Amino acid sequence: MTVHFIGAGPGAADLITVRGRDRIAACPVCLYAGSLVAPEILGWCPPGARIVDTAPLDLDAIMAEIAAAEARGQDVARLHSGDLSIWSALAEQMRRLDRLGIAYTVTPGVPAFAAAAAMLRRELTVPGVSQSVVLTRTSGRASAMPERETLAAFAATGATLAIHLSIHVVETVAAELIPFYGAACPAAAVFRASWPDERALIGDLAGLPALVAEAGLERTALILVGPALGAAEFRESALYAPDYDRRYRPGGTVGSAV
Ligand SMILES: C[S@@+](CC[C@H](N)C(=O)[O-])C[C@H]1O[C@@H](n2cnc3c(N)ncnc32)[C@H](O)[C@@H]1O
Repeated sequence: MTVHFIGAGPGAADLITVRGRDRIAACPVCLYAGSLVAPEILGWCPPGARIVDTAPLDLDAIMAEIAAAEARGQDVARLHSGDLSIWSALAEQMRRLDRLGIAYTVTPGVPAFAAAAAMLRRELTVPGVSQSVVLTRTSGRASAMPERETLAAFAATGATLAIHLSIHVVETVAAELIPFYGAACPAAAVFRASWPDERALIGDLAGLPALVAEAGLERTALILVGPALGAAEFRESALYAPDYDRRYRPGGTVGSAV
């Protein structure tokens, strides 16, 4: 018996991986993390599958579901939104399974920040402007931020910021970032990227809180901030330059990568 952790993607059912879909189809039990997993995805469960929304369950109750499936000899598909490597409670579940001696696999998914960037049609790393993306959040009821992981610390680098779980404090976020990026820095709030009701509010740091308040949208949103979002004047990457010497296109004269 195996528990298959699967990143279900940002929302749209066709943004799950083929491997994820096939694993769901092969598991007679599916535990999924509430409203962030599209109902169509549950449609791939085999007929008669036990399908459980874990949103109202605590970790003990989730483990009880898995233990019961193990007793029946049934594999479990465990779905979380986006990718499993960020804010999915994967670590604590794997630790429990390790203690119980239950086998598991991990299948990655499309993270929300990638879906948001796609919706905006933006690259988050632009040559000479930003070469780093910080995936972060602000403190919430479930998780306090480690002391040194402040918005100010990340903002000091000038990297593109993808701020999760924080749309309800967008005003504080903007106020903390303006001293580093400036009031006119491009910023966006992307709601439910890839869902049928997806929406993007695009502006600058100073104006973003008012846009969000006006739209009255409160949940499942990412705040993206950084000059890369608005960059129009930037050098092209060396990778596709005619004189760039790389392994599969030898002969150029520029030596360094990307
Ligand atoms: C618990 S985290 C899960 C993140 C997920 N594991 C991932 O890889 O993106 C939930 C937060 O991710 C962001 N999020 C998830 N889905 C989103 C979507 N479709 N559009 C915008 N933001 C989304 C929001 O900030 C939301 O509060």
